[in-house]
Amino acid sequence: MAPPSLHRGRVNLGGRLPRPQHKTLLAQAKAVLDGNWTGHFTMPSPRLYPHQWNWDAAFIAIGLAHYRPARAAQELRALFAGQWQTGMVPQIVFNPQAARPYFPGPEFWQTRRAAAAPRKPETSGITMPPVHATAALHMYRTARNAARMRESFQALFPKLLASHRYFYRFRDPAHEGLVYIRHPWESGVDNSPTWDAVLCEIDLTRVALPDYQREDLATVSSEQRPTREDYDRYVYLVDLFRQCDYNDEEIFRTCPFLVQDPMFNSLLYKATNDLVELASILNQDAGECEEWLQQSYRSFNSKLWNAETRAYDAFDLVRGRRIPVQAVTGFLPLFGGLATPEQAAALYDGLRSPSFGGPDFARFFRFPSFDVRHKAFDPRKYWRGPVWVNVDWMLYHGLKSYGYKEGAEAVRRDVFELVERFGFYEYFTPYRESTVGGLGADRFSWTAALYLDLAGEKPISERNP
Ligand code: DGY
Repeated sequence: MAPPSLHRGRVNLGGRLPRPQHKTLLAQAKAVLDGNWTGHFTMPSPRLYPHQWNWDAAFIAIGLAHYRPARAAQELRALFAGQWQTGMVPQIVFNPQAARPYFPGPEFWQTRRAAAAPRKPETSGITMPPVHATAALHMYRTARNAARMRESFQALFPKLLASHRYFYRFRDPAHEGLVYIRHPWESGVDNSPTWDAVLCEIDLTRVALPDYQREDLATVSSEQRPTREDYDRYVYLVDLFRQCDYNDEEIFRTCPFLVQDPMFNSLLYKATNDLVELASILNQDAGECEEWLQQSYRSFNSKLWNAETRAYDAFDLVRGRRIPVQAVTGFLPLFGGLATPEQAAALYDGLRSPSFGGPDFARFFRFPSFDVRHKAFDPRKYWRGPVWVNVDWMLYHGLKSYGYKEGAEAVRRDVFELVERFGFYEYFTPYRESTVGGLGADRFSWTAALYLDLAGEKPISERNP
Protein backbone atom coordinates (compact mmCIF):
# COMPACT_ATOMS: atom_id res chain seq x y z
CA MET A 1 0.00 0.00 0.00
CA ALA A 2 1.32 3.44 -0.89
CA PRO A 3 1.75 5.69 2.13
CA PRO A 4 -0.78 8.50 2.35
CA SER A 5 0.21 11.79 0.76
CA LEU A 6 2.46 14.16 2.59
CA HIS A 7 0.81 17.32 3.90
CA ARG A 8 3.14 19.33 6.04
CA GLY A 9 2.15 22.22 8.22
CA ARG A 10 -1.59 21.49 8.05
CA VAL A 11 -3.55 22.95 10.93
CA ASN A 12 -5.79 20.34 12.43
CA LEU A 13 -8.76 21.67 14.39
CA GLY A 14 -10.09 19.56 17.24
CA GLY A 15 -8.30 16.46 15.99
CA ARG A 16 -10.39 16.31 12.80
CA LEU A 17 -8.92 15.80 9.36
CA PRO A 18 -10.50 17.37 6.27
CA ARG A 19 -13.21 14.97 5.08
CA PRO A 20 -11.77 13.45 1.87
CA GLN A 21 -8.36 12.77 3.35
CA HIS A 22 -9.90 11.37 6.49
CA LYS A 23 -12.04 9.01 4.41
CA THR A 24 -9.03 7.81 2.42
CA LEU A 25 -7.07 7.10 5.59
CA LEU A 26 -9.96 5.21 7.14
CA ALA A 27 -10.17 3.07 4.02
CA GLN A 28 -6.42 2.50 4.11
CA ALA A 29 -6.52 1.53 7.78
CA LYS A 30 -9.19 -1.08 7.03
CA ALA A 31 -7.14 -2.32 4.06
CA VAL A 32 -4.13 -2.83 6.38
CA LEU A 33 -6.21 -4.87 8.84
CA ASP A 34 -7.94 -6.87 6.12
CA GLY A 35 -4.61 -7.52 4.40
CA ASN A 36 -3.11 -8.89 7.63
CA TRP A 37 -6.07 -11.16 8.39
CA THR A 38 -5.21 -14.88 8.14
CA GLY A 39 -8.71 -16.32 8.41
CA HIS A 40 -8.21 -16.95 12.15
CA PHE A 41 -6.46 -13.89 13.51
CA THR A 42 -4.69 -10.73 12.34
CA MET A 43 -0.90 -10.68 12.03
CA PRO A 44 0.73 -7.58 13.53
CA SER A 45 2.66 -7.31 10.26
CA PRO A 46 3.12 -10.13 7.75
CA ARG A 47 6.85 -9.78 7.17
CA LEU A 48 8.18 -9.15 10.67
CA TYR A 49 5.50 -10.71 12.90
CA PRO A 50 3.66 -13.55 11.12
CA HIS A 51 2.07 -15.05 14.30
CA GLN A 52 -0.47 -13.76 16.81
CA TRP A 53 0.76 -11.51 19.62
CA ASN A 54 -0.90 -11.04 22.97
CA TRP A 55 -1.47 -7.28 23.41
CA ASP A 56 -1.49 -6.69 19.67
CA ALA A 57 -4.59 -8.88 19.47
CA ALA A 58 -6.38 -6.66 21.99
CA PHE A 59 -5.51 -3.40 20.22
CA ILE A 60 -6.38 -4.91 16.85
CA ALA A 61 -9.76 -6.11 18.15
CA ILE A 62 -10.53 -2.56 19.32
CA GLY A 63 -10.17 -1.31 15.74
CA LEU A 64 -11.97 -4.24 14.15
CA ALA A 65 -14.95 -3.75 16.47
CA HIS A 66 -15.82 -0.60 14.50
CA TYR A 67 -16.46 -2.36 11.21
CA ARG A 68 -16.03 -6.15 11.62
CA PRO A 69 -17.40 -6.96 15.09
CA ALA A 70 -17.55 -10.72 14.53
CA ARG A 71 -13.91 -10.75 13.48
CA ALA A 72 -13.01 -8.61 16.50
CA ALA A 73 -14.50 -11.22 18.84
CA GLN A 74 -12.73 -13.99 16.90
CA GLU A 75 -9.41 -12.17 17.36
CA LEU A 76 -9.67 -12.59 21.15
CA ARG A 77 -11.02 -16.15 20.85
CA ALA A 78 -8.00 -17.14 18.78
CA LEU A 79 -5.60 -15.68 21.32
CA PHE A 80 -7.27 -17.36 24.29
CA ALA A 81 -7.12 -20.71 22.47
CA GLY A 82 -3.45 -20.56 23.49
CA GLN A 83 -4.16 -19.91 27.19
CA TRP A 84 -2.20 -22.14 29.57
CA GLN A 85 -3.80 -24.22 32.33
CA THR A 86 -2.30 -21.82 34.86
CA GLY A 87 -4.39 -19.07 33.23
CA MET A 88 -1.39 -17.43 31.59
CA VAL A 89 -2.14 -15.89 28.20
CA PRO A 90 1.01 -16.37 26.13
CA GLN A 91 2.92 -13.59 24.43
CA ILE A 92 2.76 -15.42 21.07
CA VAL A 93 0.32 -17.96 19.68
CA PHE A 94 2.13 -19.56 16.76
CA ASN A 95 0.61 -19.80 13.32
CA PRO A 96 1.53 -23.17 11.76
CA GLN A 97 0.83 -21.66 8.33
CA ALA A 98 3.17 -18.69 8.74
CA ALA A 99 4.75 -17.84 5.41
CA ARG A 100 7.82 -16.20 6.99
CA PRO A 101 10.33 -17.41 9.57
CA TYR A 102 10.30 -15.77 13.00
CA PHE A 103 12.83 -16.07 15.79
CA PRO A 104 12.24 -17.41 18.37
CA GLY A 105 9.76 -19.91 16.96
CA PRO A 106 8.10 -22.90 18.71
CA GLU A 107 11.16 -25.12 18.28
CA PHE A 108 13.18 -22.64 20.32
CA TRP A 109 10.60 -22.07 23.03
CA GLN A 110 9.96 -25.82 23.52
CA THR A 111 6.90 -25.16 25.64
CA ARG A 112 5.94 -28.82 25.37
CA ARG A 113 8.23 -29.15 28.42
CA ALA A 114 5.58 -27.28 30.41
CA ALA A 115 2.79 -29.36 31.90
CA ALA A 116 0.43 -26.35 31.71
CA ALA A 117 1.02 -25.37 28.07
CA PRO A 118 -1.48 -26.41 25.40
CA ARG A 119 -0.21 -28.92 22.84
CA LYS A 120 -2.13 -27.06 20.15
CA PRO A 121 -1.84 -24.25 19.31
CA GLU A 122 1.84 -23.94 20.10
CA THR A 123 2.80 -20.85 22.08
CA SER A 124 5.73 -19.01 23.57
CA GLY A 125 6.36 -19.41 27.31
CA ILE A 126 5.91 -15.90 28.71
CA THR A 127 3.07 -13.38 28.81
CA MET A 128 2.51 -9.68 27.97
CA PRO A 129 0.64 -6.62 29.30
CA PRO A 130 -2.94 -7.73 30.05
CA VAL A 131 -5.17 -5.36 28.11
CA HIS A 132 -7.84 -7.85 27.01
CA ALA A 133 -10.61 -7.05 29.51
CA THR A 134 -10.04 -3.37 28.71
CA ALA A 135 -10.32 -4.13 25.00
CA ALA A 136 -13.47 -6.20 25.53
CA LEU A 137 -15.18 -3.42 27.49
CA HIS A 138 -14.13 -0.82 24.92
CA MET A 139 -15.46 -3.05 22.12
CA TYR A 140 -18.75 -3.47 23.94
CA ARG A 141 -19.08 0.30 24.28
CA THR A 142 -18.23 1.09 20.66
CA ALA A 143 -20.08 -1.84 19.03
CA ARG A 144 -23.13 -0.99 16.95
CA ASN A 145 -24.77 -4.20 18.11
CA ALA A 146 -23.85 -4.27 21.80
CA ALA A 147 -26.19 -7.20 22.53
CA ARG A 148 -24.35 -9.43 20.07
CA MET A 149 -20.96 -8.32 21.42
CA ARG A 150 -22.16 -9.11 24.95
CA GLU A 151 -23.18 -12.61 23.89
CA SER A 152 -19.81 -13.25 22.32
CA PHE A 153 -18.10 -12.34 25.62
CA GLN A 154 -19.99 -14.85 27.79
CA ALA A 155 -17.54 -17.65 27.00
CA LEU A 156 -14.54 -15.33 27.10
CA PHE A 157 -15.25 -13.97 30.58
CA PRO A 158 -14.09 -16.98 32.67
CA LYS A 159 -10.90 -17.10 30.60
CA LEU A 160 -10.26 -13.42 31.25
CA LEU A 161 -10.84 -13.95 34.96
CA ALA A 162 -8.45 -16.93 34.95
CA SER A 163 -5.79 -14.79 33.27
CA HIS A 164 -6.02 -12.22 36.09
CA ARG A 165 -5.98 -14.95 38.73
CA TYR A 166 -2.74 -16.21 37.19
CA PHE A 167 -1.01 -12.90 37.87
CA TYR A 168 -2.04 -12.66 41.51
CA ARG A 169 -1.30 -16.31 42.16
CA PHE A 170 2.04 -16.70 40.37
CA ARG A 171 3.49 -13.24 39.86
CA ASP A 172 2.85 -11.57 43.21
CA PRO A 173 5.03 -13.57 45.62
CA ALA A 174 4.74 -11.12 48.54
CA HIS A 175 0.97 -10.79 48.06
CA GLU A 176 1.32 -7.05 47.79
CA GLY A 177 -0.91 -6.57 44.74
CA LEU A 178 2.04 -5.87 42.43
CA VAL A 179 3.04 -8.38 39.79
CA TYR A 180 6.44 -8.92 38.26
CA ILE A 181 7.56 -9.54 34.70
CA ARG A 182 10.39 -11.99 34.10
CA HIS A 183 11.55 -11.07 30.60
CA PRO A 184 11.82 -7.74 28.72
CA TRP A 185 9.52 -9.26 26.06
CA GLU A 186 6.81 -9.52 28.73
CA SER A 187 6.88 -5.75 29.21
CA GLY A 188 5.90 -5.10 25.58
CA VAL A 189 8.66 -2.46 25.50
CA ASP A 190 11.50 -4.90 24.88
CA ASN A 191 14.59 -2.72 24.77
CA SER A 192 13.43 0.21 26.90
CA PRO A 193 16.43 1.71 28.74
CA THR A 194 14.45 0.94 31.91
CA TRP A 195 15.77 -2.63 31.72
CA ASP A 196 19.41 -1.70 31.07
CA ALA A 197 20.39 -1.60 34.74
CA VAL A 198 18.98 -5.09 35.27
CA LEU A 199 20.20 -6.67 32.04
CA CYS A 200 23.76 -5.45 32.55
CA GLU A 201 23.83 -7.49 35.78
CA ILE A 202 23.48 -10.64 33.67
CA ASP A 203 27.07 -11.57 32.96
CA LEU A 204 27.25 -13.85 29.94
CA THR A 205 31.03 -14.18 29.74
CA ARG A 206 31.01 -17.71 31.17
CA VAL A 207 27.64 -18.79 29.78
CA ALA A 208 27.23 -21.17 26.83
CA LEU A 209 24.33 -19.57 25.00
CA PRO A 210 22.28 -21.73 22.66
CA ASP A 211 22.89 -21.00 18.97
CA TYR A 212 20.33 -18.71 17.44
CA GLN A 213 19.68 -16.84 14.25
CA ARG A 214 17.74 -13.58 14.25
CA GLU A 215 15.16 -13.09 11.50
CA ASP A 216 14.11 -9.52 12.29
CA LEU A 217 17.20 -7.95 10.72
CA ALA A 218 16.25 -9.34 7.32
CA THR A 219 13.24 -7.00 7.33
CA VAL A 220 14.16 -3.98 9.46
CA SER A 221 17.46 -2.14 9.67
CA SER A 222 19.53 -3.03 12.73
CA GLU A 223 19.67 0.62 13.81
CA GLN A 224 15.91 0.40 14.51
CA ARG A 225 15.97 -2.93 16.36
CA PRO A 226 17.39 -4.21 19.69
CA THR A 227 21.12 -4.95 19.75
CA ARG A 228 22.97 -8.27 19.73
CA GLU A 229 23.73 -7.77 23.47
CA ASP A 230 20.00 -7.38 24.13
CA TYR A 231 19.14 -10.51 22.15
CA ASP A 232 21.82 -12.56 23.92
CA ARG A 233 20.09 -11.72 27.19
CA TYR A 234 16.61 -12.39 25.79
CA VAL A 235 17.84 -15.80 24.63
CA TYR A 236 19.61 -16.50 27.91
CA LEU A 237 16.36 -15.95 29.80
CA VAL A 238 14.33 -18.16 27.48
CA ASP A 239 16.92 -20.88 27.88
CA LEU A 240 16.64 -20.57 31.66
CA PHE A 241 12.85 -20.92 31.48
CA ARG A 242 13.24 -24.03 29.33
CA GLN A 243 15.57 -25.52 31.92
CA CYS A 244 12.93 -24.81 34.57
CA ASP A 245 10.33 -26.54 32.38
CA TYR A 246 8.41 -23.27 32.64
CA ASN A 247 7.58 -23.91 36.27
CA ASP A 248 6.63 -20.52 37.74
CA GLU A 249 8.02 -21.17 41.25
CA GLU A 250 11.30 -22.46 39.85
CA ILE A 251 11.66 -19.47 37.55
CA PHE A 252 10.99 -17.10 40.44
CA ARG A 253 13.79 -18.74 42.42
CA THR A 254 16.38 -18.56 39.65
CA CYS A 255 15.57 -15.72 37.27
CA PRO A 256 17.86 -12.64 37.44
CA PHE A 257 15.22 -10.48 35.77
CA LEU A 258 12.15 -9.95 38.00
CA VAL A 259 10.76 -6.43 37.70
CA GLN A 260 7.61 -4.70 38.91
CA ASP A 261 6.85 -2.30 36.11
CA PRO A 262 4.50 0.68 36.46
CA MET A 263 3.01 0.25 33.00
CA PHE A 264 2.37 -3.47 33.35
CA ASN A 265 0.78 -3.02 36.75
CA SER A 266 -1.26 -0.03 35.58
CA LEU A 267 -2.67 -2.00 32.68
CA LEU A 268 -3.46 -4.93 34.95
CA TYR A 269 -5.19 -2.63 37.44
CA LYS A 270 -7.25 -1.01 34.70
CA ALA A 271 -8.11 -4.36 33.14
CA THR A 272 -9.18 -5.70 36.54
CA ASN A 273 -11.51 -2.73 37.00
CA ASP A 274 -12.82 -3.29 33.49
CA LEU A 275 -13.33 -6.96 34.27
CA VAL A 276 -15.54 -5.99 37.22
CA GLU A 277 -17.61 -3.82 34.90
CA LEU A 278 -17.80 -6.58 32.29
CA ALA A 279 -18.95 -8.98 34.99
CA SER A 280 -21.90 -6.76 35.79
CA ILE A 281 -22.77 -6.38 32.08
CA LEU A 282 -22.58 -10.16 31.62
CA ASN A 283 -24.22 -11.08 34.94
CA GLN A 284 -21.13 -12.98 36.01
CA ASP A 285 -19.23 -12.93 39.29
CA ALA A 286 -15.96 -11.05 39.75
CA GLY A 287 -16.00 -10.71 43.55
CA GLU A 288 -12.39 -11.81 43.93
CA CYS A 289 -11.21 -8.76 41.95
CA GLU A 290 -12.10 -6.32 44.75
CA GLU A 291 -9.30 -7.42 47.05
CA TRP A 292 -6.74 -7.36 44.26
CA LEU A 293 -7.78 -3.83 43.36
CA GLN A 294 -7.57 -2.46 46.89
CA GLN A 295 -4.21 -4.01 47.56
CA SER A 296 -2.76 -2.94 44.21
CA TYR A 297 -3.81 0.65 44.65
CA ARG A 298 -2.10 0.90 48.04
CA SER A 299 1.13 -0.85 47.08
CA PHE A 300 1.45 0.82 43.72
CA ASN A 301 1.42 4.28 45.24
CA SER A 302 3.57 3.45 48.24
CA LYS A 303 6.20 1.36 46.47
CA LEU A 304 6.49 2.71 42.93
CA TRP A 305 5.84 6.45 43.45
CA ASN A 306 9.03 8.46 43.71
CA ALA A 307 8.23 11.56 45.78
CA GLU A 308 11.56 13.16 44.86
CA THR A 309 11.16 12.99 41.08
CA ARG A 310 7.34 13.04 41.25
CA ALA A 311 7.17 10.08 38.89
CA TYR A 312 6.64 6.32 39.03
CA ASP A 313 9.66 4.00 38.91
CA ALA A 314 10.00 0.34 38.07
CA PHE A 315 11.31 -1.86 40.91
CA ASP A 316 14.01 -4.52 40.54
CA LEU A 317 12.79 -7.34 42.80
CA VAL A 318 16.01 -9.35 42.64
CA ARG A 319 18.23 -6.53 43.84
CA GLY A 320 15.55 -4.78 45.92
CA ARG A 321 15.99 -1.36 44.33
CA ARG A 322 14.16 1.23 42.27
CA ILE A 323 15.02 1.92 38.63
CA PRO A 324 14.76 5.71 38.49
CA VAL A 325 14.81 6.42 34.76
CA GLN A 326 12.06 8.22 32.86
CA ALA A 327 10.40 6.18 30.15
CA VAL A 328 6.98 7.05 28.76
CA THR A 329 5.66 3.88 30.41
CA GLY A 330 5.95 5.67 33.78
CA PHE A 331 3.00 7.88 32.75
CA LEU A 332 0.63 4.97 32.20
CA PRO A 333 -0.81 5.18 35.73
CA LEU A 334 -2.87 7.95 34.09
CA PHE A 335 -4.50 5.26 31.95
CA GLY A 336 -4.66 2.80 34.82
CA GLY A 337 -6.48 5.28 37.07
CA LEU A 338 -3.93 4.72 39.83
CA ALA A 339 -2.70 8.29 40.25
CA THR A 340 -4.35 10.66 42.74
CA PRO A 341 -5.30 14.07 41.24
CA GLU A 342 -2.04 15.51 42.63
CA GLN A 343 0.03 12.68 41.18
CA ALA A 344 -1.81 13.05 37.87
CA ALA A 345 -0.93 16.75 37.80
CA ALA A 346 2.73 15.86 38.40
CA LEU A 347 2.60 13.30 35.58
CA TYR A 348 1.00 15.80 33.24
CA ASP A 349 3.82 18.24 34.09
CA GLY A 350 6.32 15.47 33.35
CA LEU A 351 4.75 14.75 29.96
CA ARG A 352 5.04 18.43 29.03
CA SER A 353 8.57 18.76 30.34
CA PRO A 354 11.61 19.07 28.03
CA SER A 355 12.37 15.38 28.72
CA PHE A 356 9.32 14.41 26.65
CA GLY A 357 9.48 17.19 24.07
CA GLY A 358 7.49 19.93 25.86
CA PRO A 359 6.48 22.44 26.77
CA ASP A 360 5.38 23.54 23.29
CA PHE A 361 6.15 20.40 21.27
CA ALA A 362 7.44 22.50 18.38
CA ARG A 363 10.22 19.98 17.64
CA PHE A 364 8.72 16.75 18.94
CA PHE A 365 5.69 14.61 18.31
CA ARG A 366 3.89 13.50 21.44
CA PHE A 367 5.24 11.33 23.03
CA PRO A 368 8.79 10.05 22.64
CA SER A 369 9.07 6.66 24.32
CA PHE A 370 12.09 7.75 26.36
CA ASP A 371 13.55 10.85 28.01
CA VAL A 372 14.97 12.81 25.05
CA ARG A 373 17.63 14.39 27.29
CA HIS A 374 19.01 11.10 28.59
CA LYS A 375 22.14 9.60 27.04
CA ALA A 376 20.28 6.36 26.29
CA PHE A 377 17.71 8.18 24.10
CA ASP A 378 17.82 7.00 20.48
CA PRO A 379 15.18 8.47 18.14
CA ARG A 380 15.16 5.49 15.76
CA LYS A 381 15.67 2.50 18.00
CA TYR A 382 12.47 0.62 18.89
CA TRP A 383 11.49 1.51 22.50
CA ARG A 384 14.41 3.87 23.19
CA GLY A 385 12.88 7.03 21.70
CA PRO A 386 10.38 6.60 18.84
CA VAL A 387 6.68 7.40 19.22
CA TRP A 388 4.26 4.44 19.45
CA VAL A 389 0.56 4.69 18.65
CA ASN A 390 -0.61 2.22 21.31
CA VAL A 391 1.08 4.28 24.03
CA ASP A 392 -0.42 7.46 22.61
CA TRP A 393 -3.84 5.82 22.49
CA MET A 394 -3.55 4.90 26.18
CA LEU A 395 -2.27 8.35 27.12
CA TYR A 396 -5.10 9.97 25.17
CA HIS A 397 -7.60 8.04 27.30
CA GLY A 398 -5.63 8.60 30.48
CA LEU A 399 -5.37 12.37 30.00
CA LYS A 400 -9.03 12.55 29.06
CA SER A 401 -10.12 10.62 32.13
CA TYR A 402 -8.19 12.98 34.45
CA GLY A 403 -9.75 16.02 32.73
CA TYR A 404 -6.69 17.08 30.69
CA LYS A 405 -8.76 17.50 27.58
CA GLU A 406 -6.42 19.80 25.72
CA GLY A 407 -3.52 17.42 26.33
CA ALA A 408 -5.62 14.48 25.18
CA GLU A 409 -6.69 16.23 21.97
CA ALA A 410 -3.09 17.19 21.24
CA VAL A 411 -1.98 13.53 21.44
CA ARG A 412 -4.77 12.52 19.12
CA ARG A 413 -3.82 15.23 16.63
CA ASP A 414 -0.23 14.01 16.65
CA VAL A 415 -1.30 10.42 15.95
CA PHE A 416 -3.34 11.68 12.99
CA GLU A 417 -0.42 13.72 11.71
CA LEU A 418 2.04 10.83 12.03
CA VAL A 419 -0.23 8.48 10.10
CA GLU A 420 -1.12 11.12 7.54
CA ARG A 421 2.51 11.99 6.85
CA PHE A 422 4.20 8.61 7.11
CA GLY A 423 1.64 5.79 6.86
CA PHE A 424 0.69 2.92 9.18
CA TYR A 425 4.11 2.14 10.62
CA GLU A 426 5.01 0.22 13.75
CA TYR A 427 6.71 3.25 15.33
CA PHE A 428 7.66 6.75 14.29
CA THR A 429 10.35 9.37 14.51
CA PRO A 430 9.78 11.73 17.43
CA TYR A 431 11.09 14.67 15.32
CA ARG A 432 8.55 16.79 13.45
CA GLU A 433 11.20 17.93 10.98
CA SER A 434 11.87 14.37 9.72
CA THR A 435 10.71 13.64 6.22
CA VAL A 436 11.20 9.89 6.57
CA GLY A 437 9.42 9.12 9.78
CA GLY A 438 7.96 5.59 9.58
CA LEU A 439 10.09 3.05 11.47
CA GLY A 440 10.04 -0.71 12.01
CA ALA A 441 7.39 -2.69 10.13
CA ASP A 442 5.00 -1.03 7.69
CA ARG A 443 1.30 -1.93 7.38
CA PHE A 444 1.31 -2.40 11.12
CA SER A 445 -2.03 -3.64 12.43
CA TRP A 446 -2.38 -1.87 15.77
CA THR A 447 -1.45 1.49 14.25
CA ALA A 448 -4.29 1.00 11.74
CA ALA A 449 -6.70 -0.32 14.39
CA LEU A 450 -6.10 2.44 16.94
CA TYR A 451 -6.14 5.10 14.22
CA LEU A 452 -9.63 3.84 13.31
CA ASP A 453 -10.65 3.95 16.94
CA LEU A 454 -9.28 7.45 17.58
CA ALA A 455 -10.90 8.71 14.38
CA GLY A 456 -14.22 7.49 15.74
CA GLU A 457 -13.82 9.43 19.02
CA LYS A 458 -15.93 12.54 19.35
CA PRO A 459 -13.75 15.67 19.74
CA ILE A 460 -13.56 16.81 23.33
CA SER A 461 -13.80 20.49 24.17
CA GLU A 462 -10.53 22.42 24.25
CA ARG A 463 -11.06 23.66 27.80
CA ASN A 464 -8.33 22.69 30.26
CA PRO A 465 -9.68 22.39 33.81
C1 DGY B 1 9.95 -8.89 18.71
O1 DGY B 1 10.18 -9.92 18.07
O2 DGY B 1 10.62 -7.86 18.60
C2 DGY B 1 8.80 -8.83 19.63
O3 DGY B 1 8.70 -7.56 20.21
C3 DGY B 1 8.84 -9.88 20.70
O4 DGY B 1 7.58 -9.88 21.34
